[in-house]
Amino acid sequence: LAPIVLDSDPGLDDAVALQYLLGTGLWDLKAYTSVGGNAPAEQTFRNARGLARVFGIDGDVPVHRGSGRHISRTEYAVDFHGRTGLGEETLPDSTVPEQTEPAPAVLIRLSKRYEGELTVVATGPLTNVATALLADPGLAHRVRKLVFMGGAALVPGNVTAVAEFNIWADADAADIVVSSGIPYTMVGLDATHGWRFGHGDLARLEAAGPGQELTARMMRAYLKTYERNKGEDTCPLHDPLAVGVAADESFVSAATGTVVVECASELTRGKTVFLAEDKAGQYTYPPAVMARTRHSGRVALSTGPRDFSADFTETLLR
Ligand code: BDR
Ligand code: CA
Repeated sequence: LAPIVLDSDPGLDDAVALQYLLGTGLWDLKAYTSVGGNAPAEQTFRNARGLARVFGIDGDVPVHRGSGRHISRTEYAVDFHGRTGLGEETLPDSTVPEQTEPAPAVLIRLSKRYEGELTVVATGPLTNVATALLADPGLAHRVRKLVFMGGAALVPGNVTAVAEFNIWADADAADIVVSSGIPYTMVGLDATHGWRFGHGDLARLEAAGPGQELTARMMRAYLKTYERNKGEDTCPLHDPLAVGVAADESFVSAATGTVVVECASELTRGKTVFLAEDKAGQYTYPPAVMARTRHSGRVALSTGPRDFSADFTETLLR
């Protein structure tokens, strides 16, 4: 099994992304690290420990606390994911003592232990990954791949007109990450808005009985949030899709190019500007823009040929 770290801000869709990752049977989860985002950092850490317990990995997979403060700002979408960040759920605490090693140090340590092999999936603000890169720039070249849920390349944002929440919440962190040379795949709203979960899927989870009760309650809460805030009767599978893409890029249609994160203007803060390579693999932009192209990555631009919505629900029910 391939070594992986999941860095997230649980978060309703973060929570089911963990469950999905475990359900695929494809990964050896070396650490589960938390970051502030959907709820303040202490709360997401508590949620992460609780999720480790209820999903049966308590003691096997260490849960590490992330950076308490974002590099650029400290605002949270506490209202979107409910009172605890997991709807109204307060989970039983993990049965093992708290880890003392902070998340960025864990990323650095594991990238050395599994050099060239380690996949990192980030489904919250990129604070931990950026903090680790600032402390040890060599991390960028030891990680096999970073797949992050965040950004909007060609579509509008979801927290401002142009910015997606994870990038907006710590735009400086995202800028550090995409400029570091780390091999990355950005899974943003362009693709996540296309793979959705609906009431039919929820009915299947609810019918599955005791093992799926918590998941069903969380997905019901997430559906409600999208209905209340956006008037949509299905919800996007943002964070699970990033986990899916880490194993199989065909869940999305991706292109190669550079992502530039706008950090300067309050109006456009967190906008991920996608600079596509032309057919010859070159960039043809005016000099001032060219100066900001650094490292190419893969960027999901729409859903792909393989059906992620089906894979998600099937995997949870397996
Ligand atoms: C992202 O923001 C959070 O609310 C979700 O967990 C997801 O990671 C979507 O913009
Ligand atoms: Ca998230």
